[in-house]
Amino acid sequence: MASSSSFRVTPTLSLLLLLLLVGSSSAKLSTDFYAKSCPKLEPTVKSVVKSAISKEKRMGASLLRLFFHDCFVNGCDGSVLLDDTSSFTGEKNAKPNKNSARGFDVIDDIKTAVEKVCPGVVSCADIVATAARDSVVTLGGPSWKVKLGRRDAKTTSKSAANNGIPPPTSSLSNLISKFKAVGLSTKDMVALSGGHTIGQSRCTSFRAHIYNDTNIDSSFAKTRRKNCPKTSGSGDNNLAPLDLQTPTSFDNNYFKNLIARKGILHSDQQLFNGGSTDSIVKSYSSSPSKFVSDFTEAMIKMGDISPLTGSKGQIRKNCRKVN
Ligand code: HEM
Ligand SMILES: *[C@@H]1O[C@H](CO)[C@@H](O)[C@H](O)[C@H]1NC(C)=O
Repeated sequence: MASSSSFRVTPTLSLLLLLLLVGSSSAKLSTDFYAKSCPKLEPTVKSVVKSAISKEKRMGASLLRLFFHDCFVNGCDGSVLLDDTSSFTGEKNAKPNKNSARGFDVIDDIKTAVEKVCPGVVSCADIVATAARDSVVTLGGPSWKVKLGRRDAKTTSKSAANNGIPPPTSSLSNLISKFKAVGLSTKDMVALSGGHTIGQSRCTSFRAHIYNDTNIDSSFAKTRRKNCPKTSGSGDNNLAPLDLQTPTSFDNNYFKNLIARKGILHSDQQLFNGGSTDSIVKSYSSSPSKFVSDFTEAMIKMGDISPLTGSKGQIRKNCRKVN
């Protein structure tokens, strides 16, 4: 190469090199990440998830929610699983999780089973992502290929969880902006909210909605008040289903409830309250297949939120603590 021309291409070349470097340091997740290193991963996770759900159907909901709470705090990095230590206060005691997030024992059981078949290879973050998919499938919902290759965080913080996960008092614009902050669209937000087709809520999460909001079916509010006393502090942990019709099957009834003004959380009913998301709720309530395909797409997108890859993070031995 003539020195004059090489002199001219150098800036272009170095820019290309830089782009390549940036690209490789944010390596992509892939569905066949453990094909060689842990071929038994998927059946191993599925069998533990299935047995946990056969003992308690709600566990499927709890495992799905863990994935959401993991991904919304510093990305899908298993951070939600970390117990508090002397050097950090973790996510388990943050407001959205305290007395609420569950399924940690099941994740431990999965990790133990996975470590038996391929020790030191699979991250806790990937276990959470896979268990969420298997939970949805086990409760009658859609399946999809889970992208894998995440690594586990070495630290986390309670405040990151308090700031990242939207509370049930959120307005529609708050919900939209919390999801936008992690790269998810309004449509993704509505589709993912369909996760509330399964599982339970505590009275403390919906008390204000059933006593103070006016955009709620009055007979539904009356029914829910029976098991959720008005006074804060009494009956806080009493449970009610997020989908009043079929809380252990993954279907589109959640959206039908919203149209009937029977959303249990203030935040749920925000999705159908005369605003920009009404049309999305209507389309999901009339088309289960549209809901399922948008939900699946959004779950994959949520799973892509800032993963630790390559040599970042670690593969934890015990999901509750850093190696
Ligand atoms: C859109 C914003 C969201 C808000 C404000 C929200 C809020 C809540 C609240 C307050 C509860 C009840 C917690 C309790 O009282 O103990 C709950 C439960 C649940 N959430 Fe969400 N959530 C949201 C999005 C999601 C997403 C994206 C998913 C999953 C795709 C999800 C899945 C679940 C599940 C399955 C449960 C029931 C868990 C169980 O029964 O253990 N949520 N959520
Ligand atoms: C209803 O709203 C009033 C006035 O803002 C408030 O004092 C009260 O605590 C609320 N009740 C519930 C159950 O949230």
